[in-house]
Amino acid sequence: MLRCGQEPIPRSGRAGYRKIGSNLITERVRKVNMKRTRIKRLLASEVPVDNIFVNGWVRTKRDSREFSFMEINDGSCLKNIQIIAESKLENYSQISAITTGSAVGVEGRLVESPGKGQRWEIDASRVDVINVAPEDYPLQKKRHSDEFLRTIAHLRARTNKYGAAFRIRSEMAFAIHKFYNEKGFRYLHTPIITGSDCEGAGEMFRVTNLDPATVAKAGKMDFSRDFFAQEANLTVSGQLSAEMFALALGDVYTFGPTFRAENSNTSRHAAEFWMVEPEMAFCDLTGNMDHAEELLKYLTLHALTSCSEDMALFTEFVDKDLAKVLDTLIHEDYERVNYDDAVTLLLNSGKNFEYKVVRGNDLQSEHERFLAEEYFKKPLFLMNYPEKIKPFYMRLNDDGTTVAAVDLLVPRIGELIGGSQREERLDMLEQRMDKMGLSKEAYWWYLDSRRFGSVPHSGFGMGFERLLMLLTGITNIRDVIPFPRTPGNIDF
Ligand code: 4AD
Ligand code: MG
Repeated sequence: MLRCGQEPIPRSGRAGYRKIGSNLITERVRKVNMKRTRIKRLLASEVPVDNIFVNGWVRTKRDSREFSFMEINDGSCLKNIQIIAESKLENYSQISAITTGSAVGVEGRLVESPGKGQRWEIDASRVDVINVAPEDYPLQKKRHSDEFLRTIAHLRARTNKYGAAFRIRSEMAFAIHKFYNEKGFRYLHTPIITGSDCEGAGEMFRVTNLDPATVAKAGKMDFSRDFFAQEANLTVSGQLSAEMFALALGDVYTFGPTFRAENSNTSRHAAEFWMVEPEMAFCDLTGNMDHAEELLKYLTLHALTSCSEDMALFTEFVDKDLAKVLDTLIHEDYERVNYDDAVTLLLNSGKNFEYKVVRGNDLQSEHERFLAEEYFKKPLFLMNYPEKIKPFYMRLNDDGTTVAAVDLLVPRIGELIGGSQREERLDMLEQRMDKMGLSKEAYWWYLDSRRFGSVPHSGFGMGFERLLMLLTGITNIRDVIPFPRTPGNIDF
């Protein structure tokens, strides 16, 4: 009853099994030849279809004396398809016992539905019960809170909201590759295990295969005996590797998981998240911002056009202002503001922030959101931050006190993108590394790139989950990643 093959498209009203001889269709052959059609495909049909087969899970069911009505969903789209099973079906008693959450296979005709709100329904000629869900199946028809659904993250994708969220997630990952492919960027796989700390923030997860008991006995980790014979960590960013390849292939991007051991238990931080990181040779800070703006506009438009049904769930039921925000993302020019001017704006705002605004310090999320949500009411690039709060690789500006850094701040989220023009001058880079106490020996290969054919280049990282939060109006990062990893939580 279960098939992983591709569905036949209902064509001229007939799809389904091939006859072998006249009436020699054995049960086995019949089943093998009838491939399932996805509900998304069926609902888009232009014509009734005589012979179709679907698999799915029962969302709701009600019975009358003559009929059983079932709404089934197969995950291919938000909508369910209604099944009408007549009591004359031979296994009607079994069909009557079907519960919410059960898995079924249905053969029948796709016919115009007399009911409201749907064009098609299936008049079943056969209903196979694959699995009956017991009554304690947690996803009964009532609404569940996001908090509760987080405790059953292994099941939550079966709800309308999370099914939609994860279909959008899948589509947006594809859209990122599509965008970069269309622009002629090369896709680069950067290492997950690394010996360097790109952001220099020390928020890394250690990778080791040393025996904890041996370490405890010695009282310290002897890295020379470790797998890589030196300290190793999970990557916080693929940037340093991407820079090497931008200086060879021109324009590259990475898109993969990144890991941060920062103990910030917020709705916008995860210990494991996905980042898109373009890196472009012969590109300055302005080119970097132009690229980021083009990317976000493209992705927003893609979500609205390619996931319209799922997106409508979010614009209608999750966040009433979402449509307006998305419209702004697509149609407005993003503001470009110097860090220094933004601080002046914040200091003069008259707002009573929880954290004080201090010139020279990093901005807090509440400051960023004020700028994007209340002041400019659209995305803004914050540029040219003080060098002392930014990593070693950012290009020192002529003023000697700021670097060519850029963050993109967006309504509701705050920081969506962080990036910079990179320091391409060897002497300046070495000076900055010395100042920050970084080992030039450890970064010998990175410094090499500044010795051999160094050119101005730029790039940034965009948090994929934060993008999804922005596009769907979902307010907690735990709800846009299948199985979130946050401090104290590694369930599922
Ligand atoms: O600003 P960040 O730290 O920049 C970098 O890592 C650069 N090396 C990227 C580059 O230039 N290639 O991180 C980039 C983005 C942030 O703007 C944010 O959207 C996301 O990654 N991010 C997180 N998302 C979820 N959970 C976390 N803990 C995150 N930390 C950063
Ligand atoms: Mg940042």
